[in-house]
Amino acid sequence: MTSLALSSSSAASLKVDALVVAIAKGRRGPELVPGGEGVGDVLGGKALLAALVDLGATGKAGEVTRLATLGAKLADVVVAVGLGDVAETYDVDVLRRAAGAAVRSLAGTRRVGLALALANGTPGAGPVHEVRAVAEGALLGAYAFTAYRSTSAAEVRTPVEALTLVVPDVKDKAAKAALRRAEVVATAVHLARDLVNTPPSHLHPAELAEHARTAARTAGVDVEVLDESALAKGGYGGILGVGQGSAHPPRLVHLSYRGGRGAKAGSRTKVALVGKGITFDSGGLSLKPPTGMEEMKMDMGGAAAVLAATVAAAELGLAVDVEAWIPMAENMPSGTAIRPSDVLTMHSGLRVEVNNTDAEGRLILADALSRASEDSPALLLDVATLTGAQLVSLGARTAGVMGNDDALRDGVVDAADRAGEPSWGMPLPAELRKGLDSEIADLVNTGPREGGMLTAGLFLQEFVGDGVRWAHLDIAGPAYNSGEAYGYTPHGGTGAAVRTFVQVLEDVAAGAL
Ligand code: BES
Ligand code: MN
Ligand code: ZN
Repeated sequence: MTSLALSSSSAASLKVDALVVAIAKGRRGPELVPGGEGVGDVLGGKALLAALVDLGATGKAGEVTRLATLGAKLADVVVAVGLGDVAETYDVDVLRRAAGAAVRSLAGTRRVGLALALANGTPGAGPVHEVRAVAEGALLGAYAFTAYRSTSAAEVRTPVEALTLVVPDVKDKAAKAALRRAEVVATAVHLARDLVNTPPSHLHPAELAEHARTAARTAGVDVEVLDESALAKGGYGGILGVGQGSAHPPRLVHLSYRGGRGAKAGSRTKVALVGKGITFDSGGLSLKPPTGMEEMKMDMGGAAAVLAATVAAAELGLAVDVEAWIPMAENMPSGTAIRPSDVLTMHSGLRVEVNNTDAEGRLILADALSRASEDSPALLLDVATLTGAQLVSLGARTAGVMGNDDALRDGVVDAADRAGEPSWGMPLPAELRKGLDSEIADLVNTGPREGGMLTAGLFLQEFVGDGVRWAHLDIAGPAYNSGEAYGYTPHGGTGAAVRTFVQVLEDVAAGAL
């Protein structure tokens, strides 16, 4: 993991290999944003801006321009990153993405200093929000997945090793805490990305469960792993049904974190988390076409997010109790696989007619949701790469949020917004429920195509215990970036929902939600 430090020295005097300054779009061309003046002074202010203009810089948000300093008393390279239109203060999302884009572009550089709008502060709150955003964005941009490359490090550009943030006051307790939080959160996001990027040949359910065990233990979180025989004893028909076509048996991982030095056991809120852990989704006998299958190693992105967020909550010592239930299975076609029209008896006792084996996520989540509900949590959140319909309705970057309690759903959307993760609240229209009626069982697992994200949500709702407040996040698009890297987001696994869940848990610890 990249190291992160604060410094109140002038940007120009930092011992680094590259310096990042920010520019914004002014009326007469790009302007240097406060924080970068020191660098401007060394490079002759106007001359620096003129050079940037010559290189095509405009200051638009996320634009990255590299400049060699050609022997000036300064780092060898200066990177100017755009923040959009000139403003009094800059939006934290813009700062987070800008820091990420700059640091990502500097892969292969060892030491990087950031002098980015940290001095101008949010009125009343001081610069701590900016410190948090820049630290987070920078660390999130310092990521590469190289576990399966045999090429030497020289050919693969390694992420920046050491980051220094220029701030007005290094002794500021809030700034230090923001730094520590950014480190914990970024480590968690990197864990989720690594797991999503790991090929399914190396991440069967048992292996994912082992990763969960190791990560949880290190953080002081209790772990229990239910194997196939424990699943049979517990009547987990959904998880077993999906897993029965695979040579690699399913698992249910239970993490328990009893939180915080602050609050007493009785006053802590119990939050249950559930995450979809399909290590590979071939569709089963309702086989996917080749193009639809290509990226289906990412179908455990929900599981990765729940694991990572629970670990982060423990590392931060949040005053909440977290019970995480993470079902894991590989969805494969074979002579032992479930058939379309099979009926499964679920953990809750409900019977499901499987009319499409590719709607497997809701089957394993159903068992985990009903198990999690048995402990009567104050709130229950699940996250899943659940439907292609999520991508159709909201695109690849915006998660769909549903639930049985509008205030909770909106609270989750708001938390996601503050965490910098785009999401949108969606309804669960009661009239769509009849699309799940079965002729022979309690319900089918697949409804009509229209409103596919919502019927999936309605299916899950059937397994949420009475009186339990529940919200569901569909991250089919956000979990995996099929395109080019942007901002702090790499190609491949993104670690989506980790930051949202950490924010939700912080909100709960603070007595909100
Ligand atoms: N894992 C997929 C959903 C998915 C699709 C995630 C694309 C990421 C990108 C899920 O298991 C699935 O196959 N859903 C089906 C459900 C349908 C059969 C009702 C879908 O959305 O096509
Ligand atoms: Mn599927
Ligand atoms: Zn799936």
